[in-house]
Amino acid sequence: MPNSSSSTSSTKSVRRAASELERSDSITSQKFVGRRQSLIEDARKEREAAAAAAEAAGLSEQIVFECSDSPGKPPKGSQVNPLCRHDITSPFPPSGNEGYVHNRDVLFHKMCNSASFHITGFTDPVYRKRRKMIGDIAFKYKQGEPIPRVEYMEEEIETWREVYSTLRDLYTTHACSEHLEAFHLLEKHCGYSPDNIPQLEDVSRFLKERTGFQLRPVAGLLSARDFLASLAFRVFQCTQYIRHSSSPMHSPEPDCVHELLGHVPILADRTFAQFSQNIGLASLGASDEDIEKLSTLYWFTVEFGLCKQGGAVKAYGAGLLSSYGELVHSLSDEPDRREFDPDTVAVQPYQDQTYQPVYFVSESFSDATEKLRAYVTRIMRPFSVRFDPYTASIEVLDNPLKIQQGLETIKDELKILTDALNVLA
Ligand SMILES: [Fe+2]
Repeated sequence: MPNSSSSTSSTKSVRRAASELERSDSITSQKFVGRRQSLIEDARKEREAAAAAAEAAGLSEQIVFECSDSPGKPPKGSQVNPLCRHDITSPFPPSGNEGYVHNRDVLFHKMCNSASFHITGFTDPVYRKRRKMIGDIAFKYKQGEPIPRVEYMEEEIETWREVYSTLRDLYTTHACSEHLEAFHLLEKHCGYSPDNIPQLEDVSRFLKERTGFQLRPVAGLLSARDFLASLAFRVFQCTQYIRHSSSPMHSPEPDCVHELLGHVPILADRTFAQFSQNIGLASLGASDEDIEKLSTLYWFTVEFGLCKQGGAVKAYGAGLLSSYGELVHSLSDEPDRREFDPDTVAVQPYQDQTYQPVYFVSESFSDATEKLRAYVTRIMRPFSVRFDPYTASIEVLDNPLKIQQGLETIKDELKILTDALNVLA
């Protein structure tokens, strides 16, 4: 509880803010245009159209890629690529070795040397069939429905068990406190254990209660614009299949191990959830160039971010927290660790053939969120948007009345908080 003087000071500053909001009443509007149709619904239609086109072209089945130089467990000191995402609708392997994030293709590529690629699982008809079956759940899924449960096979649970047990031991020393705290809760409430692959529906319900985020099953990879747009709605697109059993410690593409161990725990933190949503909100209406920059920001934070805690550096990025090798590497003396600055991060080339040589360290999630806010205000867009938590929709702020209505909502909230401060004082 704050002391009396600090409470009084805080109360005054909140009252000042409330007073400023009162003056904003002068904003008026001639007409109410109404809400734009849900952007995520548009995104869903685009995805369905793309899926139909891919199926027509015979590309509907998921395929798994693996670096030939790192099959199976990562040997000590090896450079294993923990997470590669490839456009299954593009020619593969890509012709170059350079990393890229193109708006036209998938999100967050991290490519192995194309010359060293061969396909695992692709030649395993049982695995291909399994992936297709689980992928169909996502293709048929409609937002708002319960996510169908998958009865995982013993072989899949064995893969999960191996990764889970290995990473869990490392979290104590390498993961940020927010991840650790949520991980314990997930073990307690959502069936997280070495012997059980949690169900997306249970995890989604947990996240909804904690931060309002919800999971949505996804069969494959999405465009950066599509993926980031879903974050704006506090929806996280989540794979449900698991990597091939021949390579339990390494997956070149996202799978449920990456999502459930890397992304989900940290999405249970309110400040981080807000940070993630802010990237998504900034992406709506942004140019292709800005989408690429936001994707790179996402890469170096949500996927591979580090933060300071208790005088040490800890990991919060999902690409780190789902990869034993890169988690150890990121906090070793080997890589370059730099202060998080969105302007620098947004244009930072990233390594996609091995571990990152550069990581960015945030002072805290709050600090990162503040810096991101300052960055996105400089993104030129044809309109501004606001998330309405009551309807879980995006409101396009394209006339003064909408802005005034938003301010009224904030005033109500501010009044409640001011009253609470007065009680404390
Ligand atoms: Fe990820």
